[in-house]
Amino acid sequence: MSSKEKQAVVSLQNIKHSYDGETDILKGISVDAYEGDVIAVLGGSGCGKSTLLRCINLLETPTHGEIYFLNEHLELSSDKKKKRVIKSPKQLTRLRSRVGMVFQQFNLWSHKTVLQNIIEAPIRVLKHSKADATIQAKKLLRKVGLGEEFEGNYPSQLSGGQQQRVAIARTMAMDPALILFDEPTSALDPTLVNEVLQVITDLAKEKRTMIVVTHEMEFARKVANRVIFLHEGLVEADGKPQEIFGASRNKLLLKFLQKDARIT
Ligand SMILES: Nc1ncnc2c1ncn2[C@@H]1O[C@H](COP(=O)(O)OP(=O)(O)OP(=O)(O)O)[C@@H](O)[C@H]1O
Ligand SMILES: [Mg+2]
Repeated sequence: MSSKEKQAVVSLQNIKHSYDGETDILKGISVDAYEGDVIAVLGGSGCGKSTLLRCINLLETPTHGEIYFLNEHLELSSDKKKKRVIKSPKQLTRLRSRVGMVFQQFNLWSHKTVLQNIIEAPIRVLKHSKADATIQAKKLLRKVGLGEEFEGNYPSQLSGGQQQRVAIARTMAMDPALILFDEPTSALDPTLVNEVLQVITDLAKEKRTMIVVTHEMEFARKVANRVIFLHEGLVEADGKPQEIFGASRNKLLLKFLQKDARIT
């Protein structure tokens, strides 16, 4: 299939978002992510990176703009309080079951074991049998580099890097069409960052479609096929890694990159 025929997994069209009804945090963002894209999202603190991810899976309903997910238009309308909401709960459930999200703080269920964390959604949402979900979970754990000795552990008995790898396995158990990562390594001890980046790199090799908010410039440069730089709620630069890291003359981007100590 030529790149032109690739399907847009998600298409964002002029997305704006305000939390207070007055100030736009996102000021009109249009981005298409195609099958197999790994899009790194860069930007300073408070520029709207997390808000953008939250708008994609409708944890926040954007106050303006349109979203298409796998060519399906998400129907948004205003409720009685003039808050924008998705019209069809079924469509929301469908979207949520196909979009995975990995958070900075892992967000594992602390009262469930590693295995229970992974099989919960496939059983409840996808109606898989417990036996099938367990076989799949074990495979995914091996894939993220965790042996069976971890299956019965609770999250508090794992390192941050191990917890994040379980969180990624949990997301993969739903076989998502799109995975959103919100600074997946920012909460980790520096010695544990690479083990998580390696798992994300492996997913990129499998051509998983991913949008990754990150401050890891080396990772963005090597693993992403496209980099977006956000500034004050707008896409300030958008291009291939070699363009963003090598050739861009955008002053705001250059200032951001110079300030980031991790780029060498
Ligand atoms: N739930 C919320 N209610 C009100 N304002 C919010 C909320 N979440 C974020 N904001 C504001 O929106 C702006 C963008 O926040 P966001 O979390 O999207 O930034 P970010 O780029 O992810 O920053 P960081 O790199 O620090 O994670 C900030 O000014 C923030 O204070
Ligand atoms: Mg954030």
